Amino acid sequence: MNKVRFGIIGMGNMGRFHADYLLKGQVARAELTAVSDSYAPNLAAYSQLKTFDSSEALIRSGSVDAVIIATPHFLHTTIGIDALQHGLHVLVEKPISVHKADCERLLAAHTDKRLVFAAMFQQRTDPRYKRIKHLIASGELGQIVRTNWIVTDWYRTEAYYASGGWRATWKGEGGGVLLNQCPHNLDMLIWLAGAPCRVRGFCQLGRYHNIEVEDNVTAYFEYPNGGTGVFITSTGEAPGTNRLEIVGERGRLVLEGGRISFTRNEVSMLEFSKTSKAGFARPEIWNVEIPAPNTGAAHHEITQNFVDAILDGAPLISPAAEGMHSVELANAILYSSLTQQTIELPLDGAAYEAKLNQLIAESRFEKKVVQATAEDFTKSFSR
Ligand SMILES: NC(=O)c1ccc[n+]([C@@H]2O[C@H](COP(=O)([O-])OP(=O)(O)OC[C@H]3O[C@@H](n4cnc5c(N)ncnc54)[C@H](O)[C@@H]3O)[C@@H](O)[C@H]2O)c1
Repeated sequence: MNKVRFGIIGMGNMGRFHADYLLKGQVARAELTAVSDSYAPNLAAYSQLKTFDSSEALIRSGSVDAVIIATPHFLHTTIGIDALQHGLHVLVEKPISVHKADCERLLAAHTDKRLVFAAMFQQRTDPRYKRIKHLIASGELGQIVRTNWIVTDWYRTEAYYASGGWRATWKGEGGGVLLNQCPHNLDMLIWLAGAPCRVRGFCQLGRYHNIEVEDNVTAYFEYPNGGTGVFITSTGEAPGTNRLEIVGERGRLVLEGGRISFTRNEVSMLEFSKTSKAGFARPEIWNVEIPAPNTGAAHHEITQNFVDAILDGAPLISPAAEGMHSVELANAILYSSLTQQTIELPLDGAAYEAKLNQLIAESRFEKKVVQATAEDFTKSFSR
């Protein structure tokens, strides 16, 4: 094989976006041959390709080697399992599933390791995060003692929530900002600073919007080394803030407004505290500006890496298996808030699934779907 034949399942906002760059030839050695959507009008623009009104038909058509799954999240699990079981390489949109137990079901279907199974966490290609990752991995920060991410610039209007029947319902989406917008941030936080081991979440359901799920969240984390973290997010705040602060014994790193600044302790603050004879002394600092182009993340880079993994065995930037961690953390924050208790990780996936099923069964929420005005969907990507 010298070219990967792609099928896209789910031709809504994201499926169309993937189709666009594939049809423009922005991914080398990739060819879009088929698309599928259960809503026929969404296929009309692709008459030059093979079109299917069900994922099952596309998966069994013999016309693709790989699929991108861009449907509502619950279907990532069932469609992903079906595609893997039929010998297709899979690139699944974030979140890889709605809850941890579904993630485990999906990942368990990846038995044939010749198949490449990746997830669309394109922020891992953002040069700014790559620089921070490199800095942490090279030991510049030393032991991490605190993380703090205020990411309240995911502003969404009522029109956004009314634009799709599945959005922001327990049954259709399985959550709100934590499941839709924040998988990227939670993935990034874990990618950079590791996973917390203890979580206390405070989620306000429908604080800003007429929805039944969370749109305003504050979470407190504890890490295995005793480090702590706070994660704040909202879809109701404008202008909102996006400030990531990671503190290590060797200094403080801040990413805000496209700028990374690193205030570096000349010596470890932990060592200094133990050895200094003066009570009010503090380590000398250096102010370090870290250049990193603010070009943003690129979905097609993840897709290119997926193709390179299939054809050349290139290591994946974003393996699907790593996609479970952000789902587990999102679930833990919600579970903690719903049960008003601190949650130890690893999360009990079965207990969370039972809680979510209870919310679905008890939901009395009537979703009113209104056609949104046509607008540039790429404005929704994080900057
Ligand atoms: N990586 C990113 O930056 C990013 C950005 C936005 C959305 N997403 C993800 O992409 C996914 C889709 O989001 P969206 O905003 O495009 O939603 P959307 O509602 O615009 O599109 C979903 C599409 O799936 C179709 N669909 C539903 N059931 C189907 C089935 N059984 N078979 C085939 N098609 C089916 C719908 O008809 C619709 O066209 C979500 O999981 C979301 O989290 C990722």
